[in-house]
Amino acid sequence: MTRKNLWLLIPLAMLLTACDPNKIFGTRVTPPKEQPKTVEYELFSPTVAIAGGAPAKPVKVVSAGEKKYAGCASCHGGNGEGGIGPKLQGQALSYIKGRLTAYKNKEKVGRQSVMMWSQASLLSDADINDLSEYISESF
Ligand code: HEC
Repeated sequence: MTRKNLWLLIPLAMLLTACDPNKIFGTRVTPPKEQPKTVEYELFSPTVAIAGGAPAKPVKVVSAGEKKYAGCASCHGGNGEGGIGPKLQGQALSYIKGRLTAYKNKEKVGRQSVMMWSQASLLSDADINDLSEYISESF
């Protein structure tokens, strides 16, 4: 190699090092960026999956009886503590079931049974079972 050729190589080498090697050689020299880790969710939640946010909270399972009790809470309290209607806390399943069936059949239990007649008339046998189960087990 002559001295003249050597002088030509220097600017060429400088040019090459200044440029992105990926562009010169057409191949990827730098390793690809780390891919974002996939997050596994306990439960599939479309909003969370799209937004990629925090994992879904465990869903609270609401029993049929609990849902149906929502309409009773205004008179008997959220925890069966009583209010306009008597306290339901501590009552046995058979007791509640018996009362609700009696009200459904328009039987007089206490002085204010009329208030429960309209309530119980809307309840099916399945509703009475669900409600009695919920009230006796939860309060
Ligand atoms: C508008 C208010 C009101 C609503 C709503 C209501 N209750 Fe009552 N409930 C009463 C009253 C007042 C009594 C007492 C009736 C009597 O004198 O016999 C009563 C009595 C009862 C009793 C008998 C309690 C006992 O110790 O003898 C049960 C059981 C009961 N209700 C369950 C329910 C359920 C279940 C629901 C919802 C489906 C409900 N109530 C909705 C007012 C209400």
